[in-house]
Amino acid sequence: MLVSAKEMLTKAKAGKYAVGQFNINNLEWTKAVLLTAQECNSPVILGVSEGAGKYMCGYNTVVGMVKGMLETLNITVPVALHLDHGSYEGALKAMEDGFSSVMFDGSHYAIEENIEKTKEIIRIAGEKGISVEAEVGAIGGEEDGVVGGGEVADPAECKQIADLGVTMLAAGIGNIHGVYPENWTGLNFDVLAQIQEKTGTMPLVLHGGTGIPEEMVKKAISLGVSKVNVNTECQLSFAAATRKYIEEGKDKQGKGFDPRKLLAPGTEAIKATVKEKMELFGSVGKA
Ligand code: G3H
Ligand code: ZN
Repeated sequence: MLVSAKEMLTKAKAGKYAVGQFNINNLEWTKAVLLTAQECNSPVILGVSEGAGKYMCGYNTVVGMVKGMLETLNITVPVALHLDHGSYEGALKAMEDGFSSVMFDGSHYAIEENIEKTKEIIRIAGEKGISVEAEVGAIGGEEDGVVGGGEVADPAECKQIADLGVTMLAAGIGNIHGVYPENWTGLNFDVLAQIQEKTGTMPLVLHGGTGIPEEMVKKAISLGVSKVNVNTECQLSFAAATRKYIEEGKDKQGKGFDPRKLLAPGTEAIKATVKEKMELFGSVGKA
């Protein structure tokens, strides 16, 4: 059964660990993340960007695929299906189609409009027991067509949004989507500490989880981050393993061209990356 992300994140915040959100793109991705979560006895959040949702033929198809896998793979750990960086319309549609969690990314609106739209999403989500993530400030870089300027969040605005009753709050603290540039100056822990102080028990979300040095991730978790989003890193692992398989000519051996064989090394690579992250975030054994 799909669950809202509320309970798993409340526990994570209290237990000072984080739950990973791993973005999915297709059947292999979904299977890899779910099997790893089960193996690690870890709660997990499956992230679906609007672009990935379209690629997978719509949110209803994604819901059907995930629910089917939960049953046939005997997944018993808590799993939330979460719309990542959703527009207002996208969040409404995902809720209608059966997602158990949504992010409404209103960070590009003026704060007043962000508040109004967030309130409406919270109202509808509340009726269905769906968790809601809001964003203040902006995550730098680009993810699946969503471009952010990297503005550092204002802790007072974070409190305003948190007080609306969102389940979790993403704040821009110098984090960037995709691979971090060499001249990246790191996360802004001063701002994170201020946000944590103002928002109390609210689970905070760290986007752009790919390539952040381990010590920084741990420090962010100690300062209230209870959810870390990872996307690019799984894509890089998948691509490298697939490339290796092809460069070694394995697709030309026997029935190595069979898509089920061709995609297997990449799928295993995603599993390894997800496991590594769950260990780093401290969510192993917390289901
Ligand atoms: O929303 C998803 C993420 O923030 C993932 O970022 O691709 O840098 O890991 P990433
Ligand atoms: Zn993100």
